[in-house]
Amino acid sequence: MPLSRGPSPLRPPILGTTPSHRRFEALSPVDSELHPVIHAGRVAVITGAASGIGRAAAFEFAKAGLKIALADVTAEALEKTGKEIAAIIGEGNVLVIPTDVSKMDEVVRLRDKVYEAWGEVAVLMNNAAISRPSHSWQNTENWSRVFEVNVFGVINVQHTFVPSMLHQENPAMVITTGSKQGITNPPGNPAYNASKAAVKSLTEGLAHDLRQRPGCAVSAHLFIPGWTFTGITGRSAGSAKPAGAWTAEEAVLYMLDHVRQGDFYILCPDNETRREVDQLRVMWAAGDVAEGRPALSRWHAEWKNLFQEYMRDGLAELS
Ligand SMILES: NC(=O)c1ccc[n+]([C@@H]2O[C@H](COP(=O)([O-])OP(=O)(O)OC[C@H]3O[C@@H](n4cnc5c(N)ncnc54)[C@H](O)[C@@H]3O)[C@@H](O)[C@H]2O)c1
Repeated sequence: MPLSRGPSPLRPPILGTTPSHRRFEALSPVDSELHPVIHAGRVAVITGAASGIGRAAAFEFAKAGLKIALADVTAEALEKTGKEIAAIIGEGNVLVIPTDVSKMDEVVRLRDKVYEAWGEVAVLMNNAAISRPSHSWQNTENWSRVFEVNVFGVINVQHTFVPSMLHQENPAMVITTGSKQGITNPPGNPAYNASKAAVKSLTEGLAHDLRQRPGCAVSAHLFIPGWTFTGITGRSAGSAKPAGAWTAEEAVLYMLDHVRQGDFYILCPDNETRREVDQLRVMWAAGDVAEGRPALSRWHAEWKNLFQEYMRDGLAELS
């Protein structure tokens, strides 16, 4: 029997049912007057703040007038970021706290220092991560380190900060950085993919647990960047941004727009992959399970033509 891609190129039409897509019009700087959490005088804690997306987020929060605690494992780069942020909001409004998120005692120390200084956390950006080469049956060292940082780092930060944030009166949010690789699972780096799949799962769990709590003023958000030109994707001094990638600033502005609108899933495009392409890829990946296709059929020799046909039809329907 010939293979069939099944009845579900798209159901129902996606564009009309995706409020965040309709609402988003342009990248815009954060307006500190508009949001009760992203607001001048409140406090942001960012892990992975010395580079890339975390660093860009620190600049945007600083421009909005938040006090900022910067945490990262690379002390020197963190110090430099701290000085630049202090030039925007003043030294008294910046804490530079070298922290390895995979070590619980260091995360506890981070929390204690922030609460000692400012008594609250409005935005917890649980963002630090690494990527190491991996293979399905080789190199357990890399698998361990990736899980220690990307999964247990996120768990350590969440478990340490959320109980304190729950006791604050003012609204607060946890933004956790996931990845499309944790959703569509492209071949090539199974350890990173699996770690980001865990991050998606545990952040969905966090969102549910928070909203089940009567009167809870803390929300959770899963930030899913597109291809962003940062350390993890090979940015180094003097290297040029590939045309297809977004800058970290673009990704952060997109994230902030959607967080302000209350979105949980913040699926970020880039110059190569527009939102509709991501939507179709996510639906196809879910279709592998729902329709009983082989694992990762998108890359399967006998299925990839059907996937391409599905993308062509889907995009024609959406445009
Ligand atoms: N850049 C992309 O295209 C992309 C795409 C999807 C998801 N992401 C995610 O975005 C987040 C930010 O990454 P980025 O792209 O800015 O990369 P980056 O490498 O520029 O920044 C990551 C930062 O995390 C820090 N870090 C690493 N291990 C740490 C630890 N144990 N404790 C504390 N800090 C640690 C690094 O020192 C670095 O400063 C990550 O969660 C990453 O997985 C990035």
